[in-house]
Amino acid sequence: MIFIIFGPPGVGKGTQAAKISQKYNFLHVSTGDILRASVKEGTELGKLAKSYMDKGELVPDNVIIGIIRERISDKDSKKGFLFDGFPRTIEQAEALDNMLSKEGQKIDSVISIELSDEEIVKRISGRRVCEKCGSMYHIIYDPPTNMGYCNKCGGGLYQRDDDSEDVIRTRLEVYRRQTEPIKKFYKRGGILKRIDGLGTIDDVFSRIEKVLKGIG
Ligand code: AP5
Repeated sequence: MIFIIFGPPGVGKGTQAAKISQKYNFLHVSTGDILRASVKEGTELGKLAKSYMDKGELVPDNVIIGIIRERISDKDSKKGFLFDGFPRTIEQAEALDNMLSKEGQKIDSVISIELSDEEIVKRISGRRVCEKCGSMYHIIYDPPTNMGYCNKCGGGLYQRDDDSEDVIRTRLEVYRRQTEPIKKFYKRGGILKRIDGLGTIDDVFSRIEKVLKGIG
């Protein structure tokens, strides 16, 4: 099964993708996580990506498409792929369709999580991430047991560089202009499923599971 968790920054894509991939044994492919790992390692890709990410802009399509091409040729594909934060432009969506069709595959579903900007800003501004294992928390909605430390590995929690107020504004604007139009592309293909992103993490997860059961 191949599907995409789609939506604006901070809507909860990464949170849901981690839960789904764990429960259903899918390969979670997050372009944001791949880029952040490259930034941490200080690679050429990381240096290039950081110059875009810090401003809230998109990393160029050719770079992202190259990353995905490498990832999907990886045969450790488990029971399927779950794309998170990709595609983000029409060019990326078309490239993904081409890559999959060469393998005789296609996207089963695009699950679009919908939420107001007001709630998105609350979610992003309270997000904290573990510096060691990448686990995600929210200081109000999903707090760690010991404030500032990860429940799973004890690592310190930090706020992402691109989670500052002005960068959040740019990311939302970039989403509306460059990424949201992809919904029409998938709607035409009949695979777009919209779900309400309001409610607890478990509420949203059960809505996603209903969609997955419908296509499984
Ligand atoms: P990326 O890392 O993909 O960021 P994003 O799409 O902006 O999404 P986020 O990671 O901010 O949010 P999310 O939707 O995953 O929400 P989360 O689960 O964390 O990309 C970062 C940058 O990399 C981009 O700006 C761009 O520069 C570059 N990039 C990446 N992919 C690219 C591509 N394909 N093309 C070009 N450039 C690319 O949740 C947020 C918070 O809310 C957390 O604290 C969580 O605990 C909390 N939360 C989650 N669900 C709920 C809930 N139901 N109720 C209450 N709180 C909740």
